[in-house]
Amino acid sequence: MDGDDQGHWLIGRAEIDPGLRDRVADDYRRLARAGPPDRYHEWIAERYGLDLSTGFAGHRLSNPWAKASGQLSMNRQQVAEDIEAGLGYIVLKTVIAETGDGAQSMSAWSIREARMLVESITSRRGERGWTVSWKGRGWWGTFAEYLDLLAAAREDAASSQTLIVPSVKYHLPAPGESEWLVEEYEHTTQKLVEAWQTTDDSPMPLEKDFSPTLAGSGHARVRETVIEWLRRVPALIRGAVDGGRVVVGLKIFNALFDDEFQLALLRSIQEADGIEATDWWTYGNRLFDPRREFDGHRGIAYGGPDLSDRNLRVLSAFQAEVGPAMRPLAATGNINSGRMALEYALRGASSFQLHTFFQLPNERYALTGGTRTQKALHELYLHPEDGLVVWLEHLARRWGLAHDPLRFVDVVGRGRPDR
Ligand SMILES: Cc1cc2nc3c(=O)[nH]c(=O)nc-3n(C[C@H](O)[C@H](O)[C@H](O)COP(=O)(O)O)c2cc1C
Repeated sequence: MDGDDQGHWLIGRAEIDPGLRDRVADDYRRLARAGPPDRYHEWIAERYGLDLSTGFAGHRLSNPWAKASGQLSMNRQQVAEDIEAGLGYIVLKTVIAETGDGAQSMSAWSIREARMLVESITSRRGERGWTVSWKGRGWWGTFAEYLDLLAAAREDAASSQTLIVPSVKYHLPAPGESEWLVEEYEHTTQKLVEAWQTTDDSPMPLEKDFSPTLAGSGHARVRETVIEWLRRVPALIRGAVDGGRVVVGLKIFNALFDDEFQLALLRSIQEADGIEATDWWTYGNRLFDPRREFDGHRGIAYGGPDLSDRNLRVLSAFQAEVGPAMRPLAATGNINSGRMALEYALRGASSFQLHTFFQLPNERYALTGGTRTQKALHELYLHPEDGLVVWLEHLARRWGLAHDPLRFVDVVGRGRPDR
């Protein structure tokens, strides 16, 4: 197996200049008490000679950190805090698509379920981590409320560099069905673009959430059905509005099938052409355990190290197949350190969508004041053993990368550092 026996490539301690290690450790401790500087990303970039900028959905981002879609991007206050914290982008909670008369084919996803439990979890190979147990699904407010949130978030982000990204669950025909409810695609996409364009008329990035509609199903016909979904959906979303007004991303789930099936999904994304092609893909949403229970409900999604192990394994195999031709990738799944983020980056990810790491118990973060997002960023950048700064420097030394400044994008998709 590659790297360590779990397939990780960044193992042990970062090999860097001891003076730099001390400086990082010093900043980590000092800022934990004093609080982060106002423009934290810029401060990090300047202090350590880094260029953190990256690309996403045709936009230039000042840094690769993003809020993944979910319970932490449900209202204006949450979004405003993340803009303040300078995230590269924020994916809003997934809304359930509807037609002009308010009908939702996926209405089963629109249920109110506020209770969440952040729990420690031990992975199959015995690593400890965190998962969020929850039995809810998509946005439970009205579509009009979602449009208001999108317009307000756009307005709040207008004077910042943070990009706002709506997320949608549209109709998908079940195995054996052939009809697509095109009107749901049309109405929902048109309304979202209208709300988006109250601020400016740039193309709207939209993430289509596939998870985990059939994640719990082991039915053989499901395989062809899912591949057909991935092929049809980008064209349906694009076709809903005038050319070029929407940029489409597909968020891919982890099915109960084997890795070979995941690879088949990724190949079909890679091979799609013209209007069927996705502009980016997000990989990979949480695992599903049909036996795991929460609040009297059996069969829930979970995360933690099992999730990143599986994602990294599949992405390594996919990268070995497609190399630098890989379509733009955003990573999600147990990104709990700068080191883990770079594991995904080496396999092609140019941005990182986090959920669980933004909701750990307060005592898990060194920063005493500030929002959860600020606390998390502090760990992600500056943790002396696991942070992005030390591991990016490790890679720069490994490959002799220029420091004028050291560019994050230069490690994206670069593959194993020990080869
Ligand atoms: C409580 C909770 C709610 C979520 N809701 C959504 C959602 O509405 N849409 C979506 O695409 N992903 C949703 N997710 C998945 C996250 O966006 C993320 O991709 C996943 O949890 C993996 O990242 P993490 O390990 O950092 O949590 C949710 C995750 C959690 C924990």
